[in-house]
Amino acid sequence: MYVKKVAVVGAGTMGADICYTIATRGIPVVLRDVDDAQLARAQQHIQELFDGRVGSNKMTAMDAADRMGFITFSSRLEDLTGVSLAIEAVTEQMRVKEAVFRELDRTLAPLAIIVSNTSALSISHLAAVTGRPDRVAGMHFFYPAHMMKLVEVIAGDHSSDETITTVMRLAEEIRKIPVRVKECPGFVVNRVLMASMAEVLRFKEERGLAAAEIDQTITEAKVAPMGPFFLADALGLDVAYEVAQHLTQELGERFRPSQELKTLIAEGHLGMKTGRGFYSY
Ligand SMILES: NC(=O)c1ccc[n+]([C@@H]2O[C@H](COP(=O)([O-])OP(=O)(O)OC[C@H]3O[C@@H](n4cnc5c(N)ncnc54)[C@H](O)[C@@H]3O)[C@@H](O)[C@H]2O)c1
Repeated sequence: MYVKKVAVVGAGTMGADICYTIATRGIPVVLRDVDDAQLARAQQHIQELFDGRVGSNKMTAMDAADRMGFITFSSRLEDLTGVSLAIEAVTEQMRVKEAVFRELDRTLAPLAIIVSNTSALSISHLAAVTGRPDRVAGMHFFYPAHMMKLVEVIAGDHSSDETITTVMRLAEEIRKIPVRVKECPGFVVNRVLMASMAEVLRFKEERGLAAAEIDQTITEAKVAPMGPFFLADALGLDVAYEVAQHLTQELGERFRPSQELKTLIAEGHLGMKTGRGFYSY
């Protein structure tokens, strides 16, 4: 199936970058959120990404304006008319995603595909709340979505081959490297990442170390391009917490989020997006 118009639902950390990535390839895209302030922030963020490309001579100002014109920022469901593939990137909570899947199922044409950017939740479960389980799949981007090449493509129990082929092709069209993975909690990358994240959080608590000490050791040893605490702040501590909670329920205690993570979230410190997490910004 040829994807003529895309919707990205959820204009947060991931949704805005995914939307930008799609628009840069000249594909019309509607960025939808229920929160107008969030849509305004996303628009500003995307404009800054285009400005950055112009500033570094990777794009002309005219091309940037042209590509920005491919995006419709909207909180109105009516603007989803003509969308052939919707990427759900809302809050990582099953009940929120279920509601969005039901809404998209009611709104989009019967042949349209709905994919989720969930970090860990079940694609088959989400598919089951729609009347089109064959046209539902996972399309998991990584942070920051406009830079990271890998996209995990996840087939649910009833995803059709045509759906998976369409999602793989769209990923390639927007210059990503799609990898088909089996459905399981956390898929591949987050299962590995969250297991190591849980261990490093426990290690910090046990030893009473500062986040910066651990981050510095890990980056200097070239174990990872950035330290786990800086990464957690960038991903969003609330997102990391929800994923860890889900993996704990599904796979066991080794994923349990640390007390420090819970305390930071309870105090409203969600990482870069609120100006404070393990670090202050
Ligand atoms: N943050 C990451 O690094 C990362 C990486 C890969 C995947 N993900 C996944 O992407 C999804 C989004 O994560 P995020 O970090 O962008 O979250 P976020 O909190 O930054 O943004 C979520 C957005 O969803 C919007 N939203 C909530 N309910 C909605 C609804 N009913 N309709 C439309 N919009 C609604 C919120 O207003 C908010 O703007 C999650 O499933 C997360 O697990 C996140």
